[in-house]
Amino acid sequence: MSEFIKELRKVVGKANVLTDADMRASYEDDWLHQWRGETPCVVRPSSVAEVAAVLRVAAAAGVPVVPQGGNTGLVGGGVPRAGAVLLSMQRLTTLGPVDTMSQQVTAGAGVTIEALQQHARAAGLDFAVDWGARASATVGGAVATNAGGSRVVRFGTMRAQVMGLQAVLADGSIIDQLTGLPKETTGLHLPSLLVGSEGTLAVVTAARLRLVPWYRHTAAALVACSSLSDAALLLPKLRQLSNLDAVELIMPEAMTLTCDFLGIKPPIDPHEAGAFVLVDCAAHADPGEELAALLAQRHGVIAVGGQRETLYRIRDHITIAIAALGAPLKLDVAVPVENLGRLERQIQAALPAKARVVLFGHLAEGNLHVNILDAGDESASVREHILQATIELGGTISAEHGIGVAKVDWLERQKGPAAYGAMRAIKKALDPKNQLNPGVLLASAPRRRRAAPG
Ligand code: MLT
Ligand code: ZN
Repeated sequence: MSEFIKELRKVVGKANVLTDADMRASYEDDWLHQWRGETPCVVRPSSVAEVAAVLRVAAAAGVPVVPQGGNTGLVGGGVPRAGAVLLSMQRLTTLGPVDTMSQQVTAGAGVTIEALQQHARAAGLDFAVDWGARASATVGGAVATNAGGSRVVRFGTMRAQVMGLQAVLADGSIIDQLTGLPKETTGLHLPSLLVGSEGTLAVVTAARLRLVPWYRHTAAALVACSSLSDAALLLPKLRQLSNLDAVELIMPEAMTLTCDFLGIKPPIDPHEAGAFVLVDCAAHADPGEELAALLAQRHGVIAVGGQRETLYRIRDHITIAIAALGAPLKLDVAVPVENLGRLERQIQAALPAKARVVLFGHLAEGNLHVNILDAGDESASVREHILQATIELGGTISAEHGIGVAKVDWLERQKGPAAYGAMRAIKKALDPKNQLNPGVLLASAPRRRRAAPG
């Protein structure tokens, strides 16, 4: 056994340094089996002190480190590469008491989004960021990718929830900024810098998070529109709702294949629609009447239907239903909402003859999840076409999944040379030896694909 492994065992205990291939396997593969890599060992610290000590051992040995949360990422950012140690953050599960005075809570990086929501609700509050993978996705991963999900229209992305962070730098030093003061003007706000940095600048070990009211009364509807452009035109009307909580887009293909996967009848016949919008309202009193009254005005609405529970069951299973058909070319783009119809046309124009596209996403943010099945040899050119079109339409090549290793070659084009250069300079200043998640965000190491991911 190498000295390096011995040192790691001294820090976290023998049981928390996994070297057997069988034990490492689930950490070396992403949940959709699109990205994989190898690691000499998986290290499972349980405290910030242990994370710091692991990073010091790794730095002394010159071995890079790839942090991993719930391993629900879609862009390969938490999969080990180039002999890196896999630092699993799943044992950092401390949840502090809910502070109802400040409406905040401190959560360890390994706390799942679902556990955080339940913890907040037990105190009459809620955590705002939510998406289908809530049972596995962790606070640390959500911070690292600036996760979004379905409630961004009301509460913003993860960035808007982070009041403070605790994180460990590549040399093992600890940044502790968990006080969560709502007003503070003492220079650079390092937590803001770390949100979205995908584990390349520091390893997030805990977050001080804003909580929101827990709305126990909800009302949802599935709205059928004749096209994606019509669905976008509905938005200004929906924004008039006083308790709008989510505006999700489900294109007919996504509706059909997910309902087939679940073995249920679609709430509205997908042949009757060009686009579906899942509208959800949440309030302290029943928001149903207001929603019904607005939809009755029928601004481009073809049909309205569906039970909330069924609608969210469908919404939460789209990714899984697509994955059951094979590994898609997966993109996560966003454009100004008025350009969504143009982007859809560009996507259709890019499709090879035998390919099938499944679109869904977050309508209010102009965020399309593009899943292309059977793109075959043309995957690279299809990807190029769609990402280029997205940038030209004033959009972004990643709205919530992050850059990971999937889109490193595109970041400079997206950001422009000055911003990209500044990002590189920050990386160099905080992690001069490129110890933390090398090859993610900013290209630096060879990458390996298993299938044909985006
Ligand atoms: C979602 O909104 O369901 C997720 O971002 C997952 C995905 O894009 O497949
Ligand atoms: Zn999403």
